[in-house]
Amino acid sequence: MPLLRRLPPVLRALLAQALAFLVLVAVARLGLRFPSWVWVLMQAVLAVFLSRWLDLNPRWILMQAALPFLVRALWGAPIPAWVYLVLFLGLALVFGGGLLSRVPLYHASHDAWGKLEGLLPGPSGLHFVDLGCGFGGPVAHLARARPDGIFVGVEASPFTWLVAWLRCLLRPNAHIRLGSLWRTDLAEFDVVYAFLSPVPMPALWAKVRREMKPGSRFISHSFEVPGETPHRVIPVKGRDGARLLVFDL
Ligand SMILES: C[S@@+](CC[C@H](N)C(=O)[O-])C[C@H]1O[C@@H](n2cnc3c(N)ncnc32)[C@H](O)[C@@H]1O
Repeated sequence: MPLLRRLPPVLRALLAQALAFLVLVAVARLGLRFPSWVWVLMQAVLAVFLSRWLDLNPRWILMQAALPFLVRALWGAPIPAWVYLVLFLGLALVFGGGLLSRVPLYHASHDAWGKLEGLLPGPSGLHFVDLGCGFGGPVAHLARARPDGIFVGVEASPFTWLVAWLRCLLRPNAHIRLGSLWRTDLAEFDVVYAFLSPVPMPALWAKVRREMKPGSRFISHSFEVPGETPHRVIPVKGRDGARLLVFDL
């Protein structure tokens, strides 16, 4: 089933739980009766088994094992339905943009902001974009440091976008757009910066090569472009192995 294994992890996780549940429905239809904790245990074991088959990583498998017990613990608890709705909407607003493209929300360090600043070309009128700008830290910092440039952030998660937008509201040379990085034309930028995950890098590199103009610069925070050697690699503070990979086009 290579096709199923290529689905985003969140969909594979849901699929594993749904298939496990269907098996239990079939078992119940046979007239077999067990104490409730045995049903929960069976759901967890089946979900783990199916998650391994669907190639989910150990972190997901742990969550898959815990989920049936969590649902059982909350079952019948006097929690109003709107609490779940608010939780779901909150998570979607903060993390939704990166869910299917498999890009989590984490932030470049202040050290990375400073080193990014050192990688901007000198002449005024420079155009910079942060693809997936999160809460807008790098854009706000660079717009303050280089009032002669135009700094754009693109963010797909609505709440995250709102925070970045508010953060940059008083900076006339910073613009935070709500939308997908895949719909952003890179031709207008002299420097394109992205801190995403390994998953979108091949497609992003293809977009960079297609759209960015000669003489412009692509900077990836930490994630390599498969098969490409960066022109410079600059270590930055942050997680293990954090660095800026600089590609001159
Ligand atoms: C790791 S954070 C990087 C934050 C910031 N650029 C930095 O360096 O501190 C990645 C961000 O990309 C956003 N993102 C993921 N997929 C996206 C997409 N297709 N279009 C726009 N933003 C996206 C996520 O919502 C997340 O906020």
